[in-house]
Amino acid sequence: MNTRPIHLTVNNQGYEVLVPEDATLLELLREEIGLTGTKEGCGAGECGACTVILNGKPVNSCLVMALECEGASVRTIEGENADGELSDLQKAFIEHNAFQCGFCTPGMIMSARALLDTNPDPTHDEIKEAMEGNLCRCTGYEAIIAAIEAVGGIQK
Ligand code: FES
Ligand code: FES
Repeated sequence: MNTRPIHLTVNNQGYEVLVPEDATLLELLREEIGLTGTKEGCGAGECGACTVILNGKPVNSCLVMALECEGASVRTIEGENADGELSDLQKAFIEHNAFQCGFCTPGMIMSARALLDTNPDPTHDEIKEAMEGNLCRCTGYEAIIAAIEAVGGIQK
C-alpha cells in the first residue's frame, strides 16, 4: 500500500506522519503516532469507543480516513491530562463509578468533552442525546450521565 505524508495537530502538538492511503484516523493515532488511549471496538461506526474530537466535533475515528485530516486539529483522551493532572471529567467518572472495564471510557469522555465545549451546562436529556452513539456493555448509563452532569454543574 502506498503511503502519503500528512500534517496535523493532535492535542496541540504538530505531527508530520507517513500514512498508508487506506489508513483510518484511528489507525493513524494508534499505530503511527502511538496514542493508544483511543480504542477500537466495532470498527464500523456503531460503538463510539474510538471517539475523538476532530476540528471541534466528536467523530468516530474508525470511519474517518487519515488523509482527510490534513491540517486538522484532533483531540484525544491523552489531551485530557496533558498537564499530568486528571481532567474534571476523568475525576467525575471516578467519583461516580462511571466505568468498570473502562474500554468505552475514552470515547465517552471525548463525546462528553465535545458536548461541554459547546454547552457547558447541559440538561440530563441533552447529555443523553449527546452520548447516544457511545455504547457501554458493563456500567449502566446513569452513572456516566451523572458524572457528566456533575461537571456541567461545576461549570455553571
Ligand atoms: S470502533 Fe469506531 S465506532 Fe466502534
Ligand atoms: S465500562 Fe466496560 S464497556 Fe463501558
